[in-house]
Amino acid sequence: MARAKRELRFGIIGLGLMGREFGSAAARWCHLLNLDFVPRITAICDANEKLFDWWDDNFDSVKLRTTNYYDLLGSSEVDAIYCAVPHNLHAQFYTDIISAGKHMLGEKPFGIDAAANAQIVEVIRQHPDVVVACSSEFPFFPGAQRVIRYINEQRFGQIIEVSSGLLHSSDLDPNKKINWKRMIHMNGEYGCMGDLGMHPLHIPLRAGWMPKNVRAMLSNIVTQRPDSNGQMVPCETWDNATLACEVQTADQNFPMYIQTYRISPGDTNTWFIRITGTKFSVEYSSKFPKTLRTMEYTSGGEQAWKVLDMGYETAYPTITGGIFEFGFSDGLLQMWAAFCDQLANGRDRMHQPYYCATPEETMLHHRVLTAALESGKQKQVVTI
Ligand SMILES: NC(=O)c1ccc[n+]([C@@H]2O[C@H](COP(=O)([O-])OP(=O)(O)OC[C@H]3O[C@@H](n4cnc5c(N)ncnc54)[C@H](O)[C@@H]3O)[C@@H](O)[C@H]2O)c1
Repeated sequence: MARAKRELRFGIIGLGLMGREFGSAAARWCHLLNLDFVPRITAICDANEKLFDWWDDNFDSVKLRTTNYYDLLGSSEVDAIYCAVPHNLHAQFYTDIISAGKHMLGEKPFGIDAAANAQIVEVIRQHPDVVVACSSEFPFFPGAQRVIRYINEQRFGQIIEVSSGLLHSSDLDPNKKINWKRMIHMNGEYGCMGDLGMHPLHIPLRAGWMPKNVRAMLSNIVTQRPDSNGQMVPCETWDNATLACEVQTADQNFPMYIQTYRISPGDTNTWFIRITGTKFSVEYSSKFPKTLRTMEYTSGGEQAWKVLDMGYETAYPTITGGIFEFGFSDGLLQMWAAFCDQLANGRDRMHQPYYCATPEETMLHHRVLTAALESGKQKQVVTI
């Protein structure tokens, strides 16, 4: 007889690229082993009704389809919401969702700017019983999980340098049509940093490596793009950002480089992290999803990097054999398991310890991005 699992009834607001990814993750929950909870999608919302068809074709659990997100907030069929809408809507939508008492996984950057983020965090503070987290899936890649383990084990000795980034390349094409992610009023003044910054910052911030200052170099490489009618219009968002930060902890002082690139020739959503230290170094990139490079060093010893094929070593066990490759949708599934685990069991009693990015971590990342924006404009080091 099938064992009973706790059903977590989800509404989804924003059925675009990421909304569908959540739908797909929920639909293959059987991939995950030994979990006592399961998400059910009971309600969907998007301003564009045409997007409902895919859900109608694939989900028979949906009871409510609407273009008005307030319908989900008032629905007794919805316990929690995944919200994946353009950045200019985050503050209004997220605060309404949380005020309605619905748990929420919201997409990054969790507010179009620091003021919007502060508004969201204040409403979260007023609703301590509502579980809220920010989407960020890369820490759930097997190589990233190892990096986190090494950080927790303090393996590095004196840290020499940390470098992390998220690199895209599709905007290299000057004829790619403009969309909301390239418009300041919808994506935000941060440009590529708001869009991509949480990815490289999540693990360092969780490690306590909050920069004390930043010198940012910001580039707007393609300044015009065709609109939907083929007319050239201004494209004003920052395409690429390189942040040179100084990190000072109780016992460490080191440089940290953060890259968020929309134009990195040849890279398709490449996330990477590299930490070098006097005793131990590690490097992982989603470009080579199985490969973890590490180097241990003792005085006088050889400096030889070790290359390990990690395979499918996940935070939450799955049906997939350990020899196979891990990918983007697997990262999302693992992150979803972590959010549902936190909802079902509480953060201290999860099946594994790595919880999703917290509202406090989104605040820290906004502080870094706001200072970086200022630094890029003034061409100066800015204290955070
Ligand atoms: N975690 C990740 O790896 C990742 C990747 C891409 C995007 N994102 C984030 O996800 C969010 C959404 O990005 P996306 O790529 O899915 O965008 P998208 O444009 O594909 O989807 C956004 C959806 O929101 C809908 N929408 C707009 N206004 C609405 C309204 N008033 N009511 C209801 N629906 C409305 C649009 O119709 C669209 O379908 C952003 O915050 C983005 O930063 C995260």
